[in-house]
Amino acid sequence: MQLLLMGPPGAGKGTQAAELVKKFDIPHISTGDMFRAAVKEGTELGKQAKACMDSGKLVPDEVTIGIVRERLAKDDCKKGFILDGFPRTVEQADALKKILDDLGMKLTRVLNIHVPAEDLIERAVGRRICKKCGATYHVKFNPTKVESVCDNCGGDLYQRKDDNEETMKNRLSVYEASTKPLIDYYAAAGLYTQIDGRQPIEKVTDDLVRVLSSVK
Ligand code: AP5
Ligand code: MG
Ligand code: ZN
Repeated sequence: MQLLLMGPPGAGKGTQAAELVKKFDIPHISTGDMFRAAVKEGTELGKQAKACMDSGKLVPDEVTIGIVRERLAKDDCKKGFILDGFPRTVEQADALKKILDDLGMKLTRVLNIHVPAEDLIERAVGRRICKKCGATYHVKFNPTKVESVCDNCGGDLYQRKDDNEETMKNRLSVYEASTKPLIDYYAAAGLYTQIDGRQPIEKVTDDLVRVLSSVK
């Protein structure tokens, strides 16, 4: 299964991808996670990405498309994958089509987690992530059992630098201008399904799995 998880910043793409990885045993490819790893390692890519991410802008298409092309060519993607946060522009979507054509693959389904803008700032500002295993929590909607300690591995939690109200406003306007047009793009391709992302996390997962059980 070659899946694309779409949705505005903070919609729950990463949270749901983690569940789908468990169910379908295919790799989760998040360009945001790849850029954050590069920032942490201090690579050239990380330096390029950092300024864009901190201000909520998109990393330039040519950089982003290159890292996805490399990642999708790896052996583990032969059994399928879950793309999260890529493509984010029509140019990236056209490039993805070309990359998949070259690899003899195509998208199975595009799933858009729909959450209204007014909920998204609260989701992002309250998000906490485990430093050790990357598990995602929310101070109100998905809290850890012990405050600031990961349920999975006991690691400490941190807050993403772009998860503040001001940067979120920029991320949301970039989404509206550059990424939302992909809804029509994938609807026209007959691949698009919208999921109600305002439901509890488990319900959203159930809906995703239900849709996926009826596609091949
Ligand atoms: P990226 O990391 O992809 O960020 P994003 O798209 O803004 O999405 P988020 O990761 O913030 O949200 P999510 O949908 O994964 O939500 P999550 O599951 O964590 O990108 C970051 C930056 O990298 C970009 O701004 C850009 O600069 C750059 N970048 C990345 N890809 C790029 C590309 N293709 N091109 C150019 N630049 C790119 O959930 C959020 C919170 O809500 C959590 O706390 C969670 O616990 C909670 N939550 C989840 N589901 C629910 C629910 N159902 N109910 C209540 N709370 C919930
Ligand atoms: Mg994410
Ligand atoms: Zn952890």
